[in-house]
Amino acid sequence: MSAALKSEFLDVTAIRKDFPILAQTVHGKKLVYLDSGASAQKPRMVIDAMMHCMEAQYANVHRGLHWMSERTSDAYEAVRDKTAAFLNAASREEIIFTRNATESINLIAHTYGRAILKPGDAIVISEMEHHANIVPWQMLRDSHGIELRIAKITDSGELDFTSLEEKFADGKVKLLAITHMSNVLGTYTPVERLAAFAHAHGAKILLDGSQAVVHRQVDLQAIDADFYVFSGHKLYGPTGIGVLYAKRELLDAMPPFLGGGDMIASVSYERSTWAKPPYRFEAGTPAIIETIGLGAAIDYVLSIGFPAIAAHERALTDHGLATLSKIEGLRILGAAQDRGGVISFTMEGAHAHDIATLLDRQGIAVRAGHHCAEPLMGRMGVTSTARATFAMYTSMEEIDALATGLLRVKQVFA
Ligand code: ALA
Repeated sequence: MSAALKSEFLDVTAIRKDFPILAQTVHGKKLVYLDSGASAQKPRMVIDAMMHCMEAQYANVHRGLHWMSERTSDAYEAVRDKTAAFLNAASREEIIFTRNATESINLIAHTYGRAILKPGDAIVISEMEHHANIVPWQMLRDSHGIELRIAKITDSGELDFTSLEEKFADGKVKLLAITHMSNVLGTYTPVERLAAFAHAHGAKILLDGSQAVVHRQVDLQAIDADFYVFSGHKLYGPTGIGVLYAKRELLDAMPPFLGGGDMIASVSYERSTWAKPPYRFEAGTPAIIETIGLGAAIDYVLSIGFPAIAAHERALTDHGLATLSKIEGLRILGAAQDRGGVISFTMEGAHAHDIATLLDRQGIAVRAGHHCAEPLMGRMGVTSTARATFAMYTSMEEIDALATGLLRVKQVFA
């Protein structure tokens, strides 16, 4: 890779130095990592924060009266403040730490879904959800008599508002659960409009921010979201830590998800009573080290800044779409007006797995398959795609490397 990487908006060369893994070689080639949508790489700041926690400041939280436990509890709770500020939540009590976005959605389905929603109520999702925002609702449908409705998307991969209105027409819908950014099509959904729409119809809105939160500043009060979820590992943080945001009045009304230590006010053999949110939803010893890592990831992202990240990724996406669309026989899925750095594609005569394997030989990592979004594959008329996803450390040169790599793949299948 050249000494100074091209970007009008970011110092990509300096950013890449913060990510030790990007200096690795794969099959003797410089790693070109275009799979950040599945999981992003980790900056030194995150690695160091987690090491520091284990080496210098570690004990269980919320339990000990000793110095080390108090310091660790403070560090853990400071990440709750940081996350609330990052999302512009109204209060720190609205932030629950979970394992990942999937667990956050399951928590909502198990608690809000079972205790507040009633058999006969309907939930609407869209055709562009990944499995984490489909399967928990199917389970709720089957166990609790909820109706699950699917709003259509257009051929360009945008939400079809006519279909959405049809799904809401009978007044039974109590929850709209929808992605903020598709992990396959890159489409951003118009979240403010969707929240206003859901509320005007007497429904709550849950936004799956797994992809979007990495690329754009999220302002939950401006959006007026009722629930928002994301995973730390896509936000340059560690695995094993996720976030659930919910408005305070919703959390107050929700029963616990898992039972055990930390989530109780009192316990006797006859009955137990629950702690207030957020602790009601954090049973057992939490992912302390990973939470500290998430805090460092948020600091890191904010130190670069969303205006620069978004502008850089916009330029990468424009370049990627322009470059890849010149390759004959390559079909790019989706053409939303508002789309981010996700390019899913098929190539005539080549299976997605073969594309990914041949790219891997050239040091280029992309994801191939159904991307945990099998129904969306059917909607787009494919069984699988190859997918390149961009991050703040992605360079224009890497996109050119992908294009060159794909031309080589094409030659193999010619
Ligand atoms: N949903 C993640 C992805 O898109 C795992 O790869």
